Amino acid sequence: MSKLFSSFKIKHLESKNRVMRSATTSYWSDENGILREPILDYYRLLAKGDLGIIIKGHSYISKTGKAHTGQSGLSEESHLAKMTELTKMVHYYGVPIIAQINHGGLSSKADRVTASIYRTDDIEAREATLEDIATIIENFASSAELALQAGFDGVQIHSAHGYLVSQFLSKNINKREDKYGGNLENRSKLLLDVFDAIKKKIGNEPVIGVKLNCDDFAPKDGIEIQDSIQISKWLAERGIDFIEISGGGPKQDTEIRKTRGKPSSDAPYFEGNFSGHAEKIREAVPNTTLALVDGIRTRSTMDALLENNITDFISMSKPFIREPYFSSRLITGKKRSDCIDCRKCLSKERFGKRMLTCAVLVP
Ligand SMILES: Cc1cc2nc3c(=O)[nH]c(=O)nc-3n(C[C@H](O)[C@H](O)[C@H](O)COP(=O)(O)O)c2cc1C
Repeated sequence: MSKLFSSFKIKHLESKNRVMRSATTSYWSDENGILREPILDYYRLLAKGDLGIIIKGHSYISKTGKAHTGQSGLSEESHLAKMTELTKMVHYYGVPIIAQINHGGLSSKADRVTASIYRTDDIEAREATLEDIATIIENFASSAELALQAGFDGVQIHSAHGYLVSQFLSKNINKREDKYGGNLENRSKLLLDVFDAIKKKIGNEPVIGVKLNCDDFAPKDGIEIQDSIQISKWLAERGIDFIEISGGGPKQDTEIRKTRGKPSSDAPYFEGNFSGHAEKIREAVPNTTLALVDGIRTRSTMDALLENNITDFISMSKPFIREPYFSSRLITGKKRSDCIDCRKCLSKERFGKRMLTCAVLVP
């Protein structure tokens, strides 16, 4: 049997296969961050489709940390009813579901706050005070607690793609001179403090993971592989349950991204955009459960990544927008996702106007 369809345990949490749906926001929650019915309908399709684990699209940890219109919230009791309905329904089909929790930082219109004062032609953000940071850490922990109350099997801290936690990691944005800025250890302190606070609040049993940029692909001063290796080691020492390796963000240079992070061109898993970086992270934290996301489309790459022990989970997002049943189809012999990577599912024109759909199938 292919390793892709073998079960895997993250602590007590059993996944029936190695296919993970990476967090994918639908931009479709109501103005109070409460899930609306079409979101539940979409997750029903995913859950019926033989996924190993679902990571729910990011939810804000506080109203002021909301990253975009239509984002779901996990910050108030009012979010619990629909979230509980979601987890019950997904569990009914035997699939674990993890809540991704996030603070938008620069993206949070209600209060643009980040590591240091930040100005562009379009936005201006203020520098977080130590009091703000303490509140943000507490909000992450309370949000994790709410997620568990709603029946999620665990949480994933969003520390990728240029949101607040990754803004602290990046020298591009973090110019602080206190304990949250300067060297890598200090820039990682917010992430590690958030992890510690969540663990203290929810205990050792629930799964706690991190989505981590292996590389920001910024021309300078971003996170690069030597940094993400070190951060992964710190997370591993603290007992992180899984790391999902991702990359990129607003400062990325597409030319740099095309080459950095790739394995040698004859590697059977060349297709995965960050599989070269994942090789190195795996070597650095061999005992930590890893998931790898971005650009994985073919069954042969999935098999090669697992057989070569580069990752434990094959994580994907857009293939499930195209085909919510993609995992079932892999089981019945499908060799490739139908997603053509046009990225139109991500276009601003669609946000909040229609529920997640493939722009090729539903123009
Ligand atoms: C519509 C859409 C929404 C997304 N929302 C999130 C999100 O909420 N959290 C997150 O970490 N990544 C989010 N992503 C990024 C994906 O999880 C994933 O990292 C990225 O799409 C690359 O994987 P893929 O090539 O399999 O699509 C989103 C992607 C898309 C297309």
